[in-house]
Amino acid sequence: MNIKSVILAAGKGTRMKSETTPKVLHQIMGKTLLGYVLDNVKHFSSEEFVVVGHHADEVEKFVKDNYEHAQTVLQSPQLGTGHAVSMVCPYLENFDGFVLILCGDTPLIKEETLKDFIEFHNNTNSDLTVMSTIFENPTNYGRIIREKDNSLKCIVEEKDATSEQKAVKEVNAGIYCLNWGKVKNAFSQLKSNNAQGEYYLTDIISWGKEQNLNVNAFILENSDEIYGINSRSNLATATKIMNKRNLEKYMEQGVTIVDPDSTWISEDTKIGQDTIIYPATYIEGKNIIGKNCKIGPCAHLRGGVEVCDNVKVGNFVEVKKSKICSNTNVGHLSYIGDSELGQRVNIGAGTITANYDPISKIKSKTILKDDVKIGSNTVLVAPVTVEEGANVGAGSVITKDITDWALAITRAPLRVIENWVKRK
Ligand code: UD1
Ligand code: CA
Repeated sequence: MNIKSVILAAGKGTRMKSETTPKVLHQIMGKTLLGYVLDNVKHFSSEEFVVVGHHADEVEKFVKDNYEHAQTVLQSPQLGTGHAVSMVCPYLENFDGFVLILCGDTPLIKEETLKDFIEFHNNTNSDLTVMSTIFENPTNYGRIIREKDNSLKCIVEEKDATSEQKAVKEVNAGIYCLNWGKVKNAFSQLKSNNAQGEYYLTDIISWGKEQNLNVNAFILENSDEIYGINSRSNLATATKIMNKRNLEKYMEQGVTIVDPDSTWISEDTKIGQDTIIYPATYIEGKNIIGKNCKIGPCAHLRGGVEVCDNVKVGNFVEVKKSKICSNTNVGHLSYIGDSELGQRVNIGAGTITANYDPISKIKSKTILKDDVKIGSNTVLVAPVTVEEGANVGAGSVITKDITDWALAITRAPLRVIENWVKRK
């Protein structure tokens, strides 16, 4: 079946109270909310439409830079979730497959769940399927209202709900699968006679019932997955849920996490067996960590980091966009950015790769070949290469390439002035 996805990302996200960042570009461990949703659909959907509106330029740039078969569609002004989908209708005029609709602010949904959802839609010969779940505290979500025979009736938004309807704990996840050919006409017929004066996407349920379509709900057991992000507090909760899920996965794969309560590891990190992650470590973005490594305590991997086997990245070490080959140690208090470190390299405490020139705004690379030893408190001013086996004396500032097996040292000679203190 040909599946196309529509991701709603035009809303203002008023409740986030953000001046600078559209809601869907807020991040969980180095990845945007929208990025999570797009990553989850890109393997099975043939094309993605991201509806943009608020901060449209930024969202558009993000989509263009990162997702090949996704395109953005402008919704301006933003008149509601149903209106948002109607913006995509012209692009789908002759399409006759499934359209999966998701919200850009619901990043915890898993790819497997979406596949199960589509399979359910297919197996039940549904024309329209909505994902629902049970929340002990359903406040702010649309409520799923059922008929006496338990079949679907409609979805009622919090702001439109009677107190009886508010007591319903089955909520709308905001994820739908439509047989496009059968449901597309709904979008020209939605009305905005509700508390918010918006065209609600949720009204397609009652529309489908009126048209005698086969309308079903897929009830998701793990309600965490559809947790929507509307506020900073929601963002923090979602980050916790995501992190817990990730840490469980790594432990299952044979990674020791000494203290799950203080460790943060992104979904897009791969970690080899028998690696130990010590407390207060924060790993964001995409990274690969090998086997038998020791990371932390208090290490920060910022993405684009590749660490081979038997590597130590010790306390208060920050690493960004760098490759560290096997048996290398970066023990303490260092910054390694835009660098390549060979095998058996030793980095003394307090070593800094000075990768950024704030005047030209250019970032440059530091390359340390196999068996290089860097003394403590060294600054490696990039671009710079230290060839195989060379040593750098403690406290040096290295501004030129160093030949193999050499000793480089920029330290001022030590002077000892006898009895200087007594004379003073
Ligand atoms: C929506 C659903 C609600 C559901 C909840 C699940 C509607 C009317 N309500 O409520 O039933 O329980 O999601 O999380 O659909 N957006 C646009 N254009 C607009 C308005 C919104 O693109 O004109 C986008 C937003 O950027 C967001 C998504 O649609 O990504 C959902 O909008 P939001 O305002 O967050 O809806 P909720 O109140 O959460
Ligand atoms: Ca929402």
